[in-house]
Parts: sequence; C-alpha cells; structure tokens
Amino acid sequence: MKKFLINGGNTLSGQIEIESSKNSLLPILAGTILTEDKCIIHNLPNFLDIQNMIKILNHTGLNCITEDKTLTVDGSNANCSELGLELTSPLRSSIYAMGAYLGRFKKAKISYPGGCDIGLRPIDLHLRGLKDLGAKIIEQHGNIYCDGSKMKGGKVFLDFPSVGATVNIMLAGVLTEGVTTIFNCAKEPEIVDLQNFLNSMGAKVKGAGSSTIIIKGVNKLHGVEWTPISDRIVAGTYMIACAMCGGKISLDNCIYEHNQYLINLLSRVGCNISHKNKNITIESTRRPKCIQKIETMPYPAFATDLQPQFMALQCISTGNSIIVENLYETRYKHVPELIKMGANIIVKNQTAFVSGVERLYGAEVRASDLRAGAGLVLAGLCAKGYTTINSIEHILRGYENLDTKLQSIGADIKLIDE
Ligand code: UD1
Repeated sequence: MKKFLINGGNTLSGQIEIESSKNSLLPILAGTILTEDKCIIHNLPNFLDIQNMIKILNHTGLNCITEDKTLTVDGSNANCSELGLELTSPLRSSIYAMGAYLGRFKKAKISYPGGCDIGLRPIDLHLRGLKDLGAKIIEQHGNIYCDGSKMKGGKVFLDFPSVGATVNIMLAGVLTEGVTTIFNCAKEPEIVDLQNFLNSMGAKVKGAGSSTIIIKGVNKLHGVEWTPISDRIVAGTYMIACAMCGGKISLDNCIYEHNQYLINLLSRVGCNISHKNKNITIESTRRPKCIQKIETMPYPAFATDLQPQFMALQCISTGNSIIVENLYETRYKHVPELIKMGANIIVKNQTAFVSGVERLYGAEVRASDLRAGAGLVLAGLCAKGYTTINSIEHILRGYENLDTKLQSIGADIKLIDE
C-alpha cells in the first residue's frame, strides 16, 4: 500500500519539466498495432497506464523495448490475440485496441474496459461508429466480438464529441477502404496529436481539432519516430498548486494554447501568468478570488480532468462558487474527503456549491480515482498540518514522479510504501 504524507503550508518556487501527455500516448501506443514496421516513441513517461498499454501490445505479439525514455515497438510478429479482463480492466483506454485490431486484423475479441470509477462510461458511441463502417459487433458474456471483414469507409455522426469514440474510429478507419467522415468528433489536442502521428505513418487524415475528421483509407502504414505532446492536465495541476500555495513556479515543456481556458480562470483568481516558447511561469501572491460558476465541457472549454483540482482551489477562495460537472455522473468522490479537511461544499446532483474557507486542515483521506487524488494532493499542500492520502496507486497512473517533482519546488511531500 502506497500513500502520500504531506506537511502542508509551504510556498512553491522553482522549475519543473512537464511529462508527455498520457491521453496522447495511449491512442498512439494503440496506433503502433497498425504497422508491421518499427515505431520509436520518445519521452515516454513512467505512468502505470502506459505500462498497462504496453502489456496489451506485448500480448498482441509486438516486441516492446524501453530504454531510458524511448520505447521501440516492433510489430512484425503481431497476431490477433483475445484481450481478456486481466488486460482490459486496469485501464479505460484498453478499448483503443478494438479500433486498432479492426484496422490491422479486421477482427477483435475484447473484454469491456475498466478505468477510473467516475461514472457509467458506456462505449455505445464507439460501437455504433464502428458499426457505421460496416463492422459486425456482438456483445456477449462481457466480451465484444468484432468482425470487420466487410468494413468500408462511411459517415459517423457522434451524439457527443467523445474522445474515445473518435480515437477508435480513427484507428479503425485509417486502414479501411474508402472515405470515413466523423461528424461532431472530439476536438482535444490529443486527437490532433493522433492525427499527426498516423499521417507520419502514411495515413491520410485531416480535420482533427475541428468538429469533422475526414479519413481516406490507405492499404498500409509504415514505422515512425514520434515525440508526443506534453500533458496539459499535469501542467494544469501544477499551475493550480501554485495558485493555492503561493509562490512562483516555471513549467518547461508546456503548450500554452492547450491550457488557455485554465490560464484565463487562474488570471481571474489573481495569478500572474506569462509564457515564452514552451515555458509557462505562474506567480501567486494572495488568497485566490472565487470564480462564480464553472462547468466542465469538452475541449476547448473547462476540462473535467481538472475539476477536482480546481474545486480544491475554490475551497480556499474568498467567496462562493458553483461547479457543474457535465461529463461524469459520480465525479465528486473527492468532496467528502475535502470536507474532512475543513472544506465547505454541498453537492446536489451534478452541481457543487463551494463556500471558500480561509484554511484547510490536514486529515487522513483516500484517493478514489486519478484526478480526485490530484485534487487531494493540492488540498494537502496548502492545508495546515499533516495530510495522509491513501490509495495513491490511482494518482500514480497519470503523474510521473509527482512527489519528487513537488519536492523540487519546495513542497513537503513523501511517498510511503508499506
Ligand atoms: C477521455 C480522457 C479522460 C477525460 C475524458 C473527457 C483519455 C485516455 N481519457 O476519456 O481523461 O476525462 O476524455 O474529457 O483520453 N460517452 C458515452 N458513450 C460512449 C463514450 C462516451 O455516453 O460511447 C460519454 C461518457 O460517459 C462521458 C462523455 O461521453 O460522459 C465523454 O466521454 P469520452 O470523451 O469518451 O471520454 P473518454 O474517452 O473515456
């Protein structure tokens, strides 16, 4: 059992390098299934989710070798394996193997994906999109059986701009004859990175970043050398940490445009933020002002993956604020834990009403999922006294060396492995 022990109250100062984006890498790693050639991925962070995706690649017969931070994937001996629960339950993105298998092998048998327990998280849009391309899909006994032998390009209309469904249809569509058009697709930067990655392998994809993606199927993809974009959610988490604790920190390897919505909010709470090339500097000298209302929405609006961290900030702000979580039904599991630390929050359905308090106090709390855990770390960093965060395995799925990076900017945080 791993836990974080935090002695809160230190201001932050120094420089951190932001790791590659987890949500970019997961579809890209699934994308390596699409070629017989070697793919080389640089700047690979040490996230548990990435290791679990590499297990899926190994199980598919791809030869994966990691040296320092570079992963080489050789797909020459790939085979269409069955992907059982032991591989799919640790991470939601295991479902990306379905699109990649349909692309390369024209068939797949995969168990339902697991991942963070933050809501229902159905995969109906993934399945409907693939069926629109002619895949035959049967769901039986917890498995999904896909036959893509008759797949052809087609039009897919997503009811909601789902990131996962967009990824799966792109992965299946690039090696499918004809033109596939995805309407109302996700516009996240990670979708753009996937498009660029696939195009570097010889795919013909355009439109990523807008609400329509057009894919012209090709027969074959070749190997590629790739460095993924940096993680905007990790960068956002450190920015919020600084806003809460006070001080001045500088983040290297950031893409300013990807965090513009959050940066605007942080300016409104009173932070000074500047950027140059791939560096963002944030300074906070006073207690954050409250933001009256924020709602989580698909990119480019406020990211649900920053909601728990921003709620932690609102807990110590100067007034009352409302947070509406539109994406996930049960993404408020951090609320009872924040209340243990002295926060004043009431939740009604998808809406949280937060009254800022001057101080949070250390307590023993539990990380229920990745971003909820990140929110609790931030609360602990600015709280008075000691906070123990249990079940931090969730947090380690998406933050690389969180404890040592925070220590390097002055935080008193220890990882305890019992
Ligand atoms: C991705 C991100 C996750 C982020 C989320 C929303 C990755 C690996 N994960 O997750 O960190 O929190 O986007 O920004 O990139 N939905 C359906 N049916 C479907 C698919 C989704 O109803 O078939 C709903 C979901 O329940 C949710 C919403 O659509 O309410 C958004 O989900 P989606 O964009 O698919 O999220 P993920 O791809 O799972």
